[in-house]
Amino acid sequence: MEKKITVEYEVLDHSDKLTDQEKNLFEIAEKQMELAYAPYSNFYVGAAILLDNGAVIPGSNQENAAYPLCMCAERVALYSAITQYPQGKGVKMAIVANNPHLKVDKPIPPCGSCRQVILEFENRFERPLEILLKDDFGKYYRFKSCRQLLPLAFDGSFLQ
Ligand code: THU
Repeated sequence: MEKKITVEYEVLDHSDKLTDQEKNLFEIAEKQMELAYAPYSNFYVGAAILLDNGAVIPGSNQENAAYPLCMCAERVALYSAITQYPQGKGVKMAIVANNPHLKVDKPIPPCGSCRQVILEFENRFERPLEILLKDDFGKYYRFKSCRQLLPLAFDGSFLQ
């Protein structure tokens, strides 16, 4: 028996299809991307999370000469958010990236480790975190939950 998994997401062909709140999140993520410390990869990433209390928490990737210590923008933002607002539930996160050497016409996604961490937040706060992505040609992508990006996920339910 073969089973198929469908990934659901919306494609928005212009930024004017975003809500004002989402535009604001992308603006903050872009500003944060400028502050990324990425001298080794030259891959600059910015993220901004909106919490249910209205706070917006930014993050950018932070690299290290010892490469495995590099930390992704998404996790910087998530851990910063939970540290500042222990009860704050994530509502949406915008993620942007810039590779000066390559432009792509597909959503630039969070890595697998970040998806796993986002999923933990969704489970912890019992609410999905919308993921907003973009490509390098002006299109935006809206995923209703990280589960769409991480099907068949491993989570705490296997550890009970
Ligand atoms: N990076 C992120 O910040 N987020 C991701 O989801 C993918 C990768 C960063 C880590 C590293 O600083 C650089 O991008 C290249 O992998």
